[in-house]
Parts: sequence; structure tokens; C-alpha cells
Amino acid sequence: MGLSGSGKSTLLRCLNRLIEPTAGHIILDGEDVATANSEELREIRRKKMGMVFQNFALIHHRTVLDNVAYGLEIQGISKEERDVKGKEAIETVGLKGYENSKTSQLSGGMQQRVGLARALATDPDILLMDEAFSALDPLIRSEMQDELLALEEKMQKTIVFVSHDLDEALKLGDRIMIMHDGEIAQIGTAENILTKPADDYVSKFVAGVDRTKILTAETVMKRADPVVSMNSSPKVALQLMREHGISSIFVVNREKHLKGIISVDDAVRKVGKTIKDVMTSDVTTTHPDTPLNELIPIIENSSPIAVTKDDGKLLGVIVRGSVLGALAIEEV
Ligand SMILES: Nc1ncnc2c1ncn2[C@@H]1O[C@H](COP(=O)(O)OP(=O)(O)O)[C@@H](O)[C@H]1O
Ligand SMILES: [Mg+2]
Repeated sequence: MGLSGSGKSTLLRCLNRLIEPTAGHIILDGEDVATANSEELREIRRKKMGMVFQNFALIHHRTVLDNVAYGLEIQGISKEERDVKGKEAIETVGLKGYENSKTSQLSGGMQQRVGLARALATDPDILLMDEAFSALDPLIRSEMQDELLALEEKMQKTIVFVSHDLDEALKLGDRIMIMHDGEIAQIGTAENILTKPADDYVSKFVAGVDRTKILTAETVMKRADPVVSMNSSPKVALQLMREHGISSIFVVNREKHLKGIISVDDAVRKVGKTIKDVMTSDVTTTHPDTPLNELIPIIENSSPIAVTKDDGKLLGVIVRGSVLGALAIEEV
């Protein structure tokens, strides 16, 4: 991700040596692509890396299927096999039924799907995508982004996706590299870049981003410490709360699964000998991936929110202060 002219395409093209790097290494599966001979390089380009371009780079007098199967054709694969693999890729990108259409008759979004299918047909380990969606209308673009995420989830391929759009980068990237004047300004997760910008350039760059959509429960939660176990006593729970100056405490079982919460009031007022007598199992919980904008309305009028895994394991706690704190600190 970077502004126009920051060197994104140059770097991407160095990865498969469409541009020869003048220094450094490109390590792929333990081998250096930078020093591969021409034969090895051809193999890498054919089998390991597929490229999708912004301008689609389609051959317009050919059909969709022939465009998609083009990479396989170059590999010398038989027409039969080409057709099978080509049709599979066409189905994957949602163009089933258009196999025999001319690409010039398709809309921009559909043409980009053809470009994507062509890269997928050779089943490369890595997809290189240079501003692949930049030329599309906003709506189609957003749709393609969603589909790419779904495809990635399904195929588990590494995708190097170049974009000049910060929102797109934040939406698609597991790891984002911000480029500035041909250099790497920062590499990190979206959260990392938003919460710990490496320099002034990055912090100015991300200043306008709505953090509540990007930051998650996991980023703002604190360790739930102390907790009290089911077979402990109300007295111990009360003592722990007093020692730590907290007004409520989570109850967990031996596997650290959340069972309930005890407030100071309940521990004092409710008569009972066991933890079960004084705790309430009515705890607000959330998933670690929940974005802050969904938590803010809940936290307003609620006691601590427990962050739990799907199986109920307690990961941490969110209190009102930690949400507001996380949002305030980042306003550089
Ligand atoms: N690290 C670099 N060193 C020297 N020149 C660079 C470097 N990165 C990019 N350039 C030059 O800057 C120009 C724009 O780069 P480009 O990769 O097309 O940017 P982008 O894709 O981000 O718009 C090109 O002329 C390219 O040769
Ligand atoms: Mg470019």
C-alpha cells in the first residue's frame, strides 16, 4: 500500500523478476528467486506465481475460456486438460456460463474475474495482484474484495496485493506494508499500523481511519487477573477483589472456561457458602475478533465484558476505561 509512485509495482515486479532487482534476495520455499537461472525462473513463473494486472491484460478476440486457459497453453498442456482446468477456474470466480463469450463483451468487473481466473487456472502458490480492483466501480470493487477474501479462505494461497487505497489494504491485508518514496515505511497488521505507526508519515497517513472498525476486542482487552475458581469460596473471592481494588471477579473452571461473575456487593450481601451461591452466570461476553464499534454501545452501561473463545475459554476482560483509552491514545 502506498501513494502512486511510491514503488509498489516496481517491488511487485521484482518478485517474479519482470523487473530485475539490483540487490537483495527473494526467498521462495528456501530458494533465492533473484539468482534463479532462466529455466528455473520460467518454472517459478509458470507454477508458483500467478499475476493479475489492473488493466486485465486480456486477449480480446479470444473467448473467456481461451483467455483463462492461456497460461496452461503456454505450459504445453493438452487442450482437454486446459478446458477442464479452465472451466474449474471460471466457475471459481463465478463466471460459469460465459466460457464462450468474447471478453470484450464483458463488463469491467467480469473482465477482472477473467484475469483472476487466468491466474488461478495454473494453481500457483502465490498470486501477485497489482491494483487489480482499482479500475472497478466502488460497488463492484467491494464485491470483488469480499470474493477475494472468501477465495483466500478457501484456497489458502499467499496473495501479494498492491493497492493505493488504504481502506482496501485494511480490509484485505493480514499484513500490510506501507511504502513511501520507494522505501518500506512499515510492515505490520492493520491494528499494528493503526496503534503503533512507525513514523510521522504513517501516522499522518492513517489519521483519518475509523479505528473502531479495525481495532478488536482482543487489542483492547486486559488480562483477566485475578480470577476465582469454582471450588473456591466467597470469602476468597471477596479478599481477591479487595486486594486488587476491583469491583467484580470472573469465575472459571479448571480449564479456564468462564462460568460466571461475582460482584463485591453480591459477595458481601448474598449469604452462601459456595461460589455458586453468590455468582451470577449472566455475563456479557464477546469474541476476540469483535470490532470496537460493536462493543462501544454495550460497554456504556455494562459491567466488564468477558472476551471468550468459541469453546468458552476466558481470554481477557474489557472495561469501559480500556475501550476509551485505546481510542484516545491513538489520536496523535
Ligand atoms: N526503490 C526504488 N528505487 C528507484 N526507483 C524507484 C524505486 N521504486 C520505484 N521507483 C521508480 O518510481 C517510479 C514509480 O514506481 P512504481 O513502482 O510504478 O510506483 P507505484 O506502483 O507505487 O505507483 C518508477 O519510475 C520506478 O522506476
Ligand atoms: Mg503501480
